[in-house]
Amino acid sequence: MPITSRAIDHQAVLDFIVEQQQSPATACAYLGTDAESIKDDLKGLDQPWTETLHISTAEDGRLTGAVVIEWDEELARSWVYGPWIEQDAWVAHGPALLGTVTSLAPVGDHEMYADVAHREMAELATRCGWRHREANFEYSRTAPVPANELDLQIRPATAEDLPRVRALHEAEFPGTYASAVELLDRAGRYSTLVLDDGDGVRGYVAYQHQGRDGVYLDFITVDPTARRAGIGELLITAAQQCTGRQRIELTVDENRAGARAFYEALGFDQVAATRPYRSPRPNMWAH
Ligand SMILES: CC(C)(COP(=O)(O)OP(=O)(O)OC[C@H]1O[C@@H](n2cnc3c(N)ncnc32)[C@H](O)[C@@H]1OP(=O)(O)O)[C@@H](O)C(=O)NCCC(=O)NCCS
Repeated sequence: MPITSRAIDHQAVLDFIVEQQQSPATACAYLGTDAESIKDDLKGLDQPWTETLHISTAEDGRLTGAVVIEWDEELARSWVYGPWIEQDAWVAHGPALLGTVTSLAPVGDHEMYADVAHREMAELATRCGWRHREANFEYSRTAPVPANELDLQIRPATAEDLPRVRALHEAEFPGTYASAVELLDRAGRYSTLVLDDGDGVRGYVAYQHQGRDGVYLDFITVDPTARRAGIGELLITAAQQCTGRQRIELTVDENRAGARAFYEALGFDQVAATRPYRSPRPNMWAH
């Protein structure tokens, strides 16, 4: 039986997963590279990973692949962890591992996630009719915090800025994970700065502290009529000055070529490029 969920040596599977996680070309992008964190993340899944785990084996019983799934019935979505498969077993075992594990989840929309360097994951998605979604580019920059004073036009956002920040935010990021109200909530998780040139808010940047010495930049938008005048750069500088932190990280969608050029012009390095793959949409007309 090449695909099974029975009599599995969980430690051997964990070792296999950790080994596969070491390279972006074989890793699942939901997990990192550190063995302990991988174990903790798998243990933290909504459904026990040992219960959804399926493996593939060679004829001699050797482990050749593994896959785990987590789902959320309210969101009607699942997230496939893996599959992690030995190089020459993708064609033979990939579709069966994916098909078996997604059939466990009582939801219609499934996702798996990998670096764009993971060729086998992309080919498996194509072979199974899954959609290749837009890639996410991760950028990072570590630079000394500018010693000069904060630009006079930049200040923390206040409740009065809501209409203007909301207009910019919703036009640029419709339906995104954080609303303008959340960005301006002083007790919330985001810090938001605005650039106000006296005639009104021309742009905002929203960020969070990340770890001990980093900043994660969630959103930055400059009014379309005020772009290419240095406002974006001033807002990034201000985020550094206000936090006193040298490292800034962020993620940007594949289709935002202008933003990617902006970050590259400011000295950010692309550190990863990951792509979600989504199962075919359930047939709405099927009964
Ligand atoms: C990305 C964005 C914030 C940049 O703001 P901005 O005020 O126009 O940027 P700056 O004027 O400070 O640009 C600094 C440098 O970045 C580069 N740059 C900025 N926008 C660029 C673009 N569209 N194409 C190519 N290079 C660009 C240029 O080198 C520019 O210097 P230059 O104008 O002297 O050539 C703005 O274009 C924007 O709001 N985009 C839509 C929202 C978005 O994509 N946000 C990022 C998502 S995470």
